[in-house]
Formats: sequence, structure tokens, C-alpha cells
Amino acid sequence: MKIVGEPLPRVDAKPKVTGRALFVDDIKFANMLYIRVVRCPHPHAKIISIDLEEAKRLNGVEAILTAKDIPGKNAVPLVYQDQPFIAESEVMFSGEPVAIIAATLPYIARRAEKLLKIKYENLPTVIDPREAMKPEAPRIYKDDNIIVHYKTRKGISNNPFNNSESVIIEGRYTTPHQEHAYIEPQGVLSYLGPNGNIKVMGSMQCPFYVQSAVAQILGLSLNEVEVEQAVTGGGFGGKEDVPSILAGLSALITYKTGRPAKLILDREEDIKAMSKRHPAFIHYRTSSDKTGKLLGVEVEYILNAGAYSSLSTIVAWRGAIHALGPYNCEYVKVDVYAAATNTVPNGAFRGFGTPQIIFAHERQMDRLAVKLNIDPIEIRKINALREGHKTATDQALSDSVSFLKTIEKAEEISEWHLKKNKPQKNETQKRGLGVSSFIYGVGLGAGGAIYAKAASFVQITKDGGVIVAVGTTEMGQGMKTVLSQIAAQELGVNLDKVHFLEANTSRVPDSGPTVASRATLMSGNSIIDACIKLKQNLLPVAVEVLELPPENIEFFDEKVGNNKKNISFMELIDKAYKKRVNLTSQGWFCAPECTYDMETGLGSPYFTYAFGTIVSEVDVDINTGQVDVLRLYCVHDVGKAINPQTAEGQIQGGALQGMGYGVFEEIIFPEGIIKNADFSTYIIPTAMDAPEIIPVLVEEAYKGGPYGAKGLGEPSLMGVAASISNAVSNAIKRDVFSLPVKGEYVWNLLNTTIKEKVRN
Ligand code: MTE
Ligand code: MOS
Repeated sequence: MKIVGEPLPRVDAKPKVTGRALFVDDIKFANMLYIRVVRCPHPHAKIISIDLEEAKRLNGVEAILTAKDIPGKNAVPLVYQDQPFIAESEVMFSGEPVAIIAATLPYIARRAEKLLKIKYENLPTVIDPREAMKPEAPRIYKDDNIIVHYKTRKGISNNPFNNSESVIIEGRYTTPHQEHAYIEPQGVLSYLGPNGNIKVMGSMQCPFYVQSAVAQILGLSLNEVEVEQAVTGGGFGGKEDVPSILAGLSALITYKTGRPAKLILDREEDIKAMSKRHPAFIHYRTSSDKTGKLLGVEVEYILNAGAYSSLSTIVAWRGAIHALGPYNCEYVKVDVYAAATNTVPNGAFRGFGTPQIIFAHERQMDRLAVKLNIDPIEIRKINALREGHKTATDQALSDSVSFLKTIEKAEEISEWHLKKNKPQKNETQKRGLGVSSFIYGVGLGAGGAIYAKAASFVQITKDGGVIVAVGTTEMGQGMKTVLSQIAAQELGVNLDKVHFLEANTSRVPDSGPTVASRATLMSGNSIIDACIKLKQNLLPVAVEVLELPPENIEFFDEKVGNNKKNISFMELIDKAYKKRVNLTSQGWFCAPECTYDMETGLGSPYFTYAFGTIVSEVDVDINTGQVDVLRLYCVHDVGKAINPQTAEGQIQGGALQGMGYGVFEEIIFPEGIIKNADFSTYIIPTAMDAPEIIPVLVEEAYKGGPYGAKGLGEPSLMGVAASISNAVSNAIKRDVFSLPVKGEYVWNLLNTTIKEKVRN
């Protein structure tokens, strides 16, 4: 019986497609209050006064709370504790909460908001992170507006840029915000449990973060707060940080009123006030010899963090480690800054600061290839990281270093050389082919070492069913399916015997966040641990019944024993139950140790890396500049696909989201105020825009992963925009320096007379 590696149907498909799955807004309690968050419209202001009186008198208004009503600590516990749940005296971005209203019906809460009298005094703002870093900028974050600065210094005594022989390519790149656009907006529900403890249910990626936040705002201990994930309609990183804030606000209402409370954002509020991908400014210098071999890179990467630190430290750290790309290079000098501005705080988004830097390093590689007249695939092969090579942080790579395989596979299936030399379609449509490659550290790495653990709980019921719970969450990526497959394979039972429970902080120990493509590897290993323990409990019973030595007994095909002599799994469980054997176990897994030196940026920051190569084919209309993406060949090394169909699903979805990032998506925020907070003006690709996506899996097992699996959730998005920007550049023989490659931008490139923008 093969379960791992099979394209089995998703275990959560049926309740989702039949509408039976309960999302948080589907759940109602008697006596429940509806919460409206009052948000400051100004990007930077002092709160002079808040007059609640008239609003409080409105019939149906049960509570209006401000920062002074918080019994615990008014700071969201993320990496730093600089962001208040509710602003106290100064508001740092447009959309920051200043009060919360709870009413018996949503429209009453909205009406009450109009009756509030809040006086603000506007303060000077800074919107551009490069401006924020200047000494004369208004001070909005500590002494210098710099939240964090990471650096990498590898081989810097030998600077190739001083060498007159070296070929130098220099570029300044900009990338936009990206809105997560999860299909289900943010939402939470809170209520009191039977002993007066606080219970929270909601759409989220990280229940343990939410638990800490709720305990902190209320001044409770963690065991007084229970958090359960509701069915979650997409997160993409956007439900890593902000659910902590929303759950804190909802729990505050429940704590003060004793009543259940619900807080659901509408789309406009969600886009305006929730985190996004960090916009970036990148200055990149590349040096190579005449054969195209990289000699060195120098990178300055500035991230617009928004008004509070949130997850910027993590995003910047990833940026520093991945700035070189999947290449072998002796000299690496990187400076990454996350600077505070009076804009919405940015957070995690599929890839944490890596898609931005991939765009820059992959444009650089292509420009180098053009300059030296080398094929873009070839230049990547020349520089490819191979087994035994060292990464940008000086980490020697040993296991599952499959980068070259992804390039070769992409070259082959895209028919790169054939297509490259094909004539143009016609005079107005220019066809272009582009490639991009990337490396990505799987899991939290040295930066998140304390969270790099995962628990699981596996129980066999007396009728032979299996119950599994883990501390990581399902948000659409297929985690429950692949983890169910692992449990079924380990215990030798059919997939439909496995029943998966919701993630709940009272059920399993803190397993860290569900981010960084870590769930399959971390929870998968943890489930294997739990299953091994269960089999150890069951083995003595099997030995006794079968009269076989333990080494001849296996769990397979709903049977226990071997091909010649066996009993059914059900029979064994029945016997074990009657013998009072413990049929429950808790699995545990800790990630291997990682290292990182803050001064040099060197070390082994991740225990394994995923690799990928994307080839894209585009048509560019030279009259309008419009880019039409025709095909995306997406080759990913996943170590092992536990379920090739969900893996391909991730590649399909990630590719489309990456294409949105590359071609359509941008937030318009003059003076820090978001102007396109809806889906008629914030454009994401729909099925109508979807190109042909050709997913290809490379499986070079990673010894430390469950059945060899690494991670794929984020890599599926990461190289796509870079690949498209290279295809567009090749089509129009002009260099793209900025995302997204919208019609206006491309038209401007086509119609520029500035010489350096026009390629020979
Ligand atoms: N796929 C779907 N359908 N929905 C999501 O919200 N989030 C992505 C990715 N794929 C996401 C998704 C992000 S940002 C991460 S970190 C991973 O899934 C997390 O899941 P994993 O650890 O199981 O890969
Ligand atoms: Mo994904 S950005 O790590 O939630």
C-alpha cells in the first residue's frame, strides 16, 4: 500500500465544497456583540481628545473602549513590543485603532462610530523609507527610524570591484506592496468558557501567537486563554501577525462585558489596515570575470517597514541571507535596512522579503548575460551552487542540493533553445522568454530557533480509527492532507481512517507559527515520532498474538505482521485495548541547530534549502505596453512530494499570485493613505488572466525531512515575477527595473529615449 507520494484527494475538500465547513463568520452565539474598530484616518497625529458620551447613549451600544481600558499590557507581543493594540496618545499610521465599539448589531456599531468626537493634531510624516533614514526626517521610530539593519560580510578583504578586469553591472530596483487578498477577510470570535476563561476562535495561521497576545492585553496567564483556529480561507503570511491584534481587541470586549464578541473586517478595512508585503528599494552591484563567473556582489536593500516593527526583522533577515541568490561567489557584501514610515505596518507574505531580492539578483544575472553575450540559462549554470559549495553566508551545502537539476529540467521542458530563436509573432506583439532561479531556506532557521519545534498528538480509538492533531494550521495549502497521509502510511491504515482535529492551544504544546513553509517537515516529523511510539506500545501485543519476532512485524495495508503471517490492524487494536495498552502518544520534533553571526552575517542559518527555476513566456504589445503572460514553466525541488497533486496545486496558485505581483498589483498610497482598498482598483489576476502553468517536481530527498520532504508553500510564488520581468526585458530589449510591469511602465520604457535604458 502506497499512501505517501500518491495524488490522493484532499481530506478537507468535501466540507469545503459542500459549504459545511465553518468559517468564523458562520459561527454565532446568543447574546453576541459585534465589534467595530475606530481607526484614525491620518498617517501621523496626536490624539487631543476623545469624547465617547453621545455614542455611548445610542441604544444597542454595549461598550466603547480605548487604550485606558486595557487591564494588561498595551503592546502586541511579536518580535519587539512596540505596537499598541489601541493607540494611546499618538497615531503612527492611517488605519491605526483608537477605540473599539461593541454593539448588539453591526450597523449600530457603525452608527455609533459617527457619533464619536475625536480631535487630532496632525504631525509631520515620512512615507518613503529612504527619506526616513535621513537625519532630517521626522523621528517616528527610536533615534534613527531604522528598525533593523542586517549585514553580510563574506570575503571582503578581496574586493573584485577594484579589479580593472572585472565586468560590473549596477542597477537600482523598486518593488511594490503586495496585498494578501486571502479570499476570507480577517475575523475572530471570543467568548467565555465554563470556568470564566477566555476562548478565541478565528481565521489565523499562528494560534500560539494569538494566545500570547490575548493573555498580554488582559493581563492573564496563558492557561487562562484557549485559542482555536476556525477553518481559514487563506493566509499567505497575512494571518501571521495581525490576528494577534484583532483577537486582543475582541477578547477585551468579552472580558469587559462577559459577552461573546465577534470582529470581522470588511474588505476595505482589511486592505487599508492590515499588513502587506514590504515595498523595497534595492541597489545591486555585480562583478564577474569575462567568462561570466561571479566575482562579487554588493547589495543595499531598503524595506519600507511601515509604522511598527511587526515582522520586519524577520523579513529583513531573510533578505540578507538570500540576497546573492543560488550562486557560488566569494565576495558578498549586503546591507539590509527596515526603515519605519507612517504607513501601514508590513509583515509576512509568502517568501518574507525574498521575492523582492530575487527580482533584483535575477535582473542582474540577465543583464550580465546580455553584456557578455552568454545565454541566460548558461550563465546560471556557470554560477550554480553545487554540492560542496558554500552559500552567501559561508554555509557548506551537502544534502539535497538540486539547483542544477531545476535549471536543466526547466531548460528541457520549456524548449528554451528552440523558442529563444523563434521569430516574433508579428510586428506589434513581441514575444519574450525569461528565466529566474532562487534558493530558499526552509523553516524558521537561526532567527527563530526558539520556535523551531513541533508537537503532535496521535490517538487510536478502540474501533481502529486514528485521530491526529498538530500545532500547525491548515489555511488552504493542503497541510491536513499531507499530514494525514504521513500518519496513515506510518500506521499502515487507509487514509479515510485518519481524522484530523482543529489546531487548538489546549490540545498540543506550542509548535511555533505556521509560516516559512515549515508545516510538512516539522509536523510531519513530529507525527512520525508519535506513530513510532504508538507502534512500540502495540508491538508486544503483536509479538504475542503472531508468535513472530518483533523485527518481522510491520504495519501495512490495514494489517500487522508480514505477508505470510498477519492479523488485521483492527484485530490488533481490539486486543491491545482489552489489554489496557496506551493507544495515545505525543510526538515531538526539534529542528536541527542553525547558526548566524550578527556581525558578519555568516553561519548556517537554515538546515536545508529549496531550489527552483521558472521559465516564462510573454507577449508584449508594443503599442500599449500591455504584458500578456502565456506560459509559466515552474520547476521546484521539493525533496519529496508527499502528495504530488497538492504540490502541483501549490505551484499553480503560487505562480498566479507571483504573476499578480509581477504584472498587476500595487498599492497607491499618497501621503500614506491607501486609495485602492478594493478589488476593482487593486487588481489581482483572475482565472481569465491565468496563463498556462506547467508544474514540474524535482524530488531529491532531504535526509532530515519526512520521507525526504522539504517545503514548497512559499517557493511556488517566489521566482515568478523575476522571471516575467526578464521575459519582458528580453521581448522589448529594454531593462525592467521596477515591478509591476504594468502597461504604463512598459510603454514608458518603450518610448524612452534615455540611452542606457535601450539595449543594443
Ligand atoms: N496556500 C494556500 N492555498 N493558502 C495559503 O494561505 N500560504 C502560503 C503557502 N501556501 C498559503 C498557501 C504561505 S505564506 C506559507 S508559509 C505556506 O503555505 C504554509 O504552509 P506549509 O508550511 O504547509 O507550506
Ligand atoms: Mo508564510 S509568509 O511564511 O506565512
